[in-house]
This record gives sequence, C-alpha cells and structure tokens, in this order.
Amino acid sequence: MFKRFSHAIIEKNVLLLGVLSLITVSIGGLAQIVPLFTVESTIERVQGIRPYTPLELMGRDIYVREGCYVCHSQMVRPFRDEHERYGHYSLAAESMYDRPFQWGSKRSGPDLARVGGRYSDDWQAQHLRSPRALVPESIMPPYAFLDRALDTTRVQASLRTQRALGVPYTDEMITNAMADLRAQANPDADGSGLTARYPRVRQSAFDGNARDVTEMDALVAYLQMLGTLVNFRDVTPEQLRQQ
Ligand code: HEC
Repeated sequence: MFKRFSHAIIEKNVLLLGVLSLITVSIGGLAQIVPLFTVESTIERVQGIRPYTPLELMGRDIYVREGCYVCHSQMVRPFRDEHERYGHYSLAAESMYDRPFQWGSKRSGPDLARVGGRYSDDWQAQHLRSPRALVPESIMPPYAFLDRALDTTRVQASLRTQRALGVPYTDEMITNAMADLRAQANPDADGSGLTARYPRVRQSAFDGNARDVTEMDALVAYLQMLGTLVNFRDVTPEQLRQQ
C-alpha cells in the first residue's frame, strides 16, 4: 500500500522530488569526499620526484608563456598505444610540483610528458628555432627568438611564489637560485651545490653556447628533464595501483 502511493506523491511534487534528490546526492557525495579529509595526501610519494631547478622553472614559465600546451599535452594515458609510443603512463606524483599543471587537453603535436632525453640538446634547440628544418611536414611554429637573454630578475621571486603554493623550496634553494641557474647552463661550472640541492640535475650548454643564459637554455633544460625523474624500477606495484 505505502509503496504504491509514495512514489506517485514524490513524482507529482517537484519540490519534494528536488529535496529528496538533494539528500540522495549529498549522501553519495559525503561517502566520496569525507574519507579524503582523513588522508594526508591523495598523491603517493614516489622516489626521485624533486622540485624544478631554477633554470627548469624559468623554462617552464616560457613553455606556459608561449602556449606550448595549446598543441602539446603532458600526460601519457594508461592505454597500450600510448604506452608503446611514449613510455610508462604518467603518475600523479610526476606533476605534483606543477603549478599550474600542464596536462593539456589537445594534441596537435605529440605528448611531451616523457620527451626528456629522447633527442639531443642540439636537436631540441634546432627544432625550436625551425621545426620544419628537421621535420619537413611539421605545423609547429618557429621560436628562433628564444635565443635572446633570459630575464632573471624574477628567479628568486618565482621560487618564493612556488613555495607559497606548496612546493618545498628551502631557504638555501632560494638564496642560491641565481648561482644554480648559471651553473646548470654551463657544463664547466662547479655543480656540486646544484646537484646536492636537485638530484639527477643535468648541466649542459643547452642552446650550444655556454657563455650566456638564454630563454632557449631554459626551455631546452625544461624539455630535457620531462619524465626523467622517476626510475620505474624503483616504483612498487602498490604505488602504481594508488596512482
Ligand atoms: C601549432 C601547434 C604547436 C605549437 C604551438 C607547438 N608545437 Fe611542438 N609540435 C607540434 C607538432 C605538430 C609536432 C610534431 C612535428 C615536429 O616534430 O615538429 C611538434 C613536435 C614537438 C616536439 C618533438 C616531440 C617528439 O616527441 O618528437 C617538441 C619537443 C615540441 N614540439 C616542443 C614544443 C614547445 C616547447 C612549444 C612551445 C614553445 C611547442 N612545441 C609549440 C605542434 C606545435
């Protein structure tokens, strides 16, 4: 008896239907959201992930400024074709220090999440200067103007801003930001402090010229480290499952 009439009442009363729907959806929402408040982080820590070096961070800013994300994503999805083309699927931890993240939603060009080390520095710089000189059918625009001096006035401020957003830059990293930036762009410079602060960092004359630090240096340094921090032999199956 109750069953037969109650549903008809709800269906005929839009206010009652609305209130009951809201209650139902809220219960579902609470069941999903409340448990998240009890865990410290939803991102499993993975060995090897470190904040960007000052030079890489400047390169990342140029990547954002030039809108590279309009044509390139930075997220390898867990599908076989992507795995075979780009490598291991992206882990949440790999973009935990990305503010803002660069996952992207469009691929006019290939995914760049694991492009680091795929080509030489020279290839990267030449390709940015003139994509069609290396890949004749490319539709990527040329960025030869990046061979100009890098504006370094805001390096420390950038690190400080990233720290305010939650990236664990230490006082020591901020104090040494300029020295670290110069050291990374010069393979002959003393890189002991840089390497201690940023494990697995690579020093190079990224644009082929070790004297001046250019925007090209910063962007190539950034591209060449993408996807190279995690050694997948160190990642446990449990960590992968939680990603
Ligand atoms: C209009 C779309 C477009 C924009 C904007 C663009 N690219 Fe590309 N990019 C492409 C296409 C298409 C390719 C593939 C052909 C080629 O290699 O040139 C490509 C290839 C690449 C590659 C080689 C990837 C690989 O695995 O072979 C890199 C690295 C790259 N782009 C970096 C950048 C950077 C850095 C920027 C911003 C400064 C940028 N792209 C802006 C379209 C774009």
